[in-house]
Amino acid sequence: MTTQSAYSTTTKTFHWLTALLIIAIIPLGVIAGKLPIETDAQVVTKTFLFSLHKTLGVAMFIVAALRIAYALTQAKPAGLHPSCKVETPERPQ
Ligand code: HEM
Repeated sequence: MTTQSAYSTTTKTFHWLTALLIIAIIPLGVIAGKLPIETDAQVVTKTFLFSLHKTLGVAMFIVAALRIAYALTQAKPAGLHPSCKVETPERPQ
Protein backbone atom coordinates (compact mmCIF):
# COMPACT_ATOMS: atom_id res chain seq x y z
CA MET A 1 0.00 0.00 0.00
CA THR A 2 1.13 3.58 -0.68
CA THR A 3 2.24 5.25 2.57
CA GLN A 4 3.04 8.84 3.64
CA SER A 5 6.63 8.37 2.50
CA ALA A 6 6.61 5.90 -0.39
CA TYR A 7 4.63 4.63 -3.35
CA SER A 8 3.51 0.99 -3.14
CA THR A 9 5.15 -1.80 -5.12
CA THR A 10 1.93 -2.10 -7.15
CA THR A 11 2.04 1.61 -8.06
CA LYS A 12 5.71 1.35 -9.06
CA THR A 13 5.05 -1.80 -11.10
CA PHE A 14 2.18 -0.09 -12.96
CA HIS A 15 4.43 2.94 -13.58
CA TRP A 16 7.33 0.98 -15.05
CA LEU A 17 5.09 -1.40 -16.99
CA THR A 18 3.47 1.61 -18.70
CA ALA A 19 6.90 3.12 -19.39
CA LEU A 20 8.33 -0.13 -20.82
CA LEU A 21 5.29 -0.64 -23.03
CA ILE A 22 5.58 2.90 -24.47
CA ILE A 23 9.33 2.46 -24.99
CA ALA A 24 8.66 -0.76 -26.93
CA ILE A 25 5.57 0.39 -28.87
CA ILE A 26 6.91 3.62 -30.40
CA PRO A 27 9.97 2.12 -32.18
CA LEU A 28 7.87 -0.89 -33.26
CA GLY A 29 5.37 1.48 -34.94
CA VAL A 30 8.13 3.59 -36.55
CA ILE A 31 10.18 0.61 -37.79
CA ALA A 32 7.14 -1.35 -39.04
CA GLY A 33 5.83 1.77 -40.79
CA LYS A 34 9.11 2.31 -42.67
CA LEU A 35 9.62 -1.32 -43.68
CA PRO A 36 9.22 -1.89 -47.44
CA ILE A 37 7.06 -4.79 -48.65
CA GLU A 38 8.96 -5.88 -51.74
CA THR A 39 9.72 -9.45 -50.69
CA ASP A 40 7.64 -12.09 -48.92
CA ALA A 41 10.02 -11.99 -45.96
CA GLN A 42 9.51 -8.21 -45.61
CA VAL A 43 5.72 -8.66 -45.70
CA VAL A 44 5.95 -11.32 -42.97
CA THR A 45 8.24 -9.14 -40.82
CA LYS A 46 6.07 -6.04 -41.26
CA THR A 47 2.92 -7.97 -40.40
CA PHE A 48 4.58 -9.46 -37.32
CA LEU A 49 5.91 -6.09 -36.08
CA PHE A 50 2.53 -4.39 -36.56
CA SER A 51 0.78 -7.29 -34.87
CA LEU A 52 3.12 -6.93 -31.88
CA HIS A 53 2.68 -3.14 -31.97
CA LYS A 54 -1.10 -3.45 -31.81
CA THR A 55 -1.11 -6.16 -29.14
CA LEU A 56 1.20 -4.10 -26.91
CA GLY A 57 -0.81 -0.95 -27.69
CA VAL A 58 -4.04 -2.56 -26.50
CA ALA A 59 -2.21 -4.03 -23.47
CA MET A 60 -0.94 -0.53 -22.66
CA PHE A 61 -4.48 0.86 -22.76
CA ILE A 62 -5.64 -1.83 -20.31
CA VAL A 63 -2.63 -1.31 -18.01
CA ALA A 64 -3.18 2.48 -18.07
CA ALA A 65 -6.90 2.08 -17.23
CA LEU A 66 -6.09 -0.29 -14.34
CA ARG A 67 -3.32 2.05 -13.19
CA ILE A 68 -5.68 5.04 -13.03
CA ALA A 69 -8.38 2.99 -11.25
CA TYR A 70 -5.81 1.77 -8.70
CA ALA A 71 -4.33 5.25 -8.20
CA LEU A 72 -7.78 6.61 -7.33
CA THR A 73 -7.93 4.21 -4.37
CA GLN A 74 -4.52 5.26 -2.98
CA ALA A 75 -3.40 8.31 -1.00
CA LYS A 76 -0.38 10.14 -2.44
CA PRO A 77 2.85 10.24 -0.41
CA ALA A 78 3.81 13.64 0.99
CA GLY A 79 6.35 15.69 -1.00
CA LEU A 80 10.02 15.28 -0.10
CA HIS A 81 10.36 19.05 0.36
CA PRO A 82 7.05 20.34 1.78
CA SER A 83 8.30 23.96 1.67
CA CYS A 84 8.68 23.73 -2.12
CA LYS A 85 5.41 25.01 -3.66
CA VAL A 86 5.96 23.23 -6.98
CA GLU A 87 6.26 19.90 -5.19
CA THR A 88 3.48 20.51 -2.68
CA PRO A 89 0.75 22.59 -4.33
CA GLU A 90 -2.03 23.90 -2.17
CA ARG A 91 -5.04 21.63 -2.44
CA PRO A 92 -8.58 22.98 -2.52
CA GLN A 93 -10.41 22.41 0.78
C1 HEM B 1 2.50 4.77 -27.20
C2 HEM B 1 2.31 4.95 -28.48
C3 HEM B 1 1.43 4.08 -29.35
C4 HEM B 1 0.37 3.25 -29.03
C5 HEM B 1 -0.23 2.98 -27.66
C6 HEM B 1 -0.11 2.65 -30.27
C7 HEM B 1 -1.16 1.75 -30.37
C8 HEM B 1 -1.66 1.25 -31.55
C9 HEM B 1 -2.80 0.36 -31.69
C10 HEM B 1 -3.64 -0.17 -30.52
C11 HEM B 1 -2.99 0.13 -33.00
C12 HEM B 1 -4.08 -0.73 -33.61
C13 HEM B 1 -5.22 0.15 -34.08
C14 HEM B 1 -6.21 -0.57 -34.97
O1 HEM B 1 -5.96 -1.68 -35.41
O2 HEM B 1 -7.26 0.05 -35.27
C15 HEM B 1 -1.99 0.86 -33.74
C16 HEM B 1 -1.89 0.87 -35.11
C17 HEM B 1 -0.92 1.54 -35.81
N1 HEM B 1 0.11 2.29 -35.27
FE1 HEM B 1 0.40 2.68 -33.31
N2 HEM B 1 0.64 3.13 -31.31
C18 HEM B 1 1.60 3.99 -30.80
C19 HEM B 1 2.58 4.68 -31.49
C20 HEM B 1 2.78 4.60 -32.87
C21 HEM B 1 3.85 5.24 -33.61
C22 HEM B 1 4.94 6.09 -32.96
C23 HEM B 1 3.67 4.90 -34.93
C24 HEM B 1 4.47 5.29 -36.13
C25 HEM B 1 5.17 6.38 -36.26
C26 HEM B 1 2.51 4.08 -35.03
C27 HEM B 1 1.99 3.58 -36.21
C28 HEM B 1 0.87 2.81 -36.33
C29 HEM B 1 0.30 2.37 -37.59
C30 HEM B 1 0.81 2.72 -38.98
C31 HEM B 1 -0.82 1.57 -37.27
C32 HEM B 1 -1.77 0.86 -38.25
C33 HEM B 1 -1.21 -0.51 -38.55
C34 HEM B 1 -2.03 -1.22 -39.62
O3 HEM B 1 -2.11 -0.73 -40.71
O4 HEM B 1 -2.59 -2.29 -39.32
N3 HEM B 1 1.98 3.91 -33.76
N4 HEM B 1 -1.20 1.53 -32.83
